[in-house]
Amino acid sequence: MRKQIVAGNWKMNNDYVDSELLISKLLEHHHHSTTDVIVAPPFTNILAVTNSLKGSSIAVAAQNMHYAESGAFTGEVSASMLTSVGVHTVILGHSERRAYFNETDALLAKKVDTALAHDMRVIFCFGEELADRKAGNENEVVASQIKNALFHLPASAWSQIVLAYEPVWAIGTGETATPDQAQDMHAFIRKTLADQYSSALADEVSILYGGSVKSANAKEIFSKPDVDGGLIGGAALDAEHFSAIVNSF
Ligand code: PGA
Repeated sequence: MRKQIVAGNWKMNNDYVDSELLISKLLEHHHHSTTDVIVAPPFTNILAVTNSLKGSSIAVAAQNMHYAESGAFTGEVSASMLTSVGVHTVILGHSERRAYFNETDALLAKKVDTALAHDMRVIFCFGEELADRKAGNENEVVASQIKNALFHLPASAWSQIVLAYEPVWAIGTGETATPDQAQDMHAFIRKTLADQYSSALADEVSILYGGSVKSANAKEIFSKPDVDGGLIGGAALDAEHFSAIVNSF
């Protein structure tokens, strides 16, 4: 059975005080559920958040990391730095990293390899831009993003991979893919995996939807058979909304 996952990507929001406050509110709202819950704070707060969540079932993810083990990469953070503070999940390939920091599929493939070499779980993001969808090219774009960054992996690596389909036109815009659009794309992604590997493997990979998921629309999106949860941006900054999304399964 593949896992249901709700992950909150705080992006460049929440200083130390805000982070601690949000975590304490999240813990008040959080009840044990079968859904895996993850929060991704900024690096400066990752240790504090990890410590505050000790003993709870909420996991912590990094929003990014470098592919190198260590060295002269000013401003960057390595996999072993993350695992040394108890962070074993990393978001890679977010569209904001691709757009503003020039992250390419080839670079992301290297980051994925490093994360897996450190036994980390990867939440791998991808998705088409509005122009791609208008041109009817969304399937080709998504398939090539997955293929270029992930299809060099052996089947055994996929137990550590979570996919997050995030159409760029729906991120932070208030514009959401309809539940049917999400389902169609998720089914296409699963078929792409089945064709490359096997349908047994494809059935086991969790595919999250991201892009303006809110407490008001999460239930309908999560009810789709190939949608296994969400990667939440804006609504993850509010404990009540985020917890309501977690409880939308
Ligand atoms: P959003 O962001 O929920 O604010 O649209 C989603 C994301 O970027 O992961």
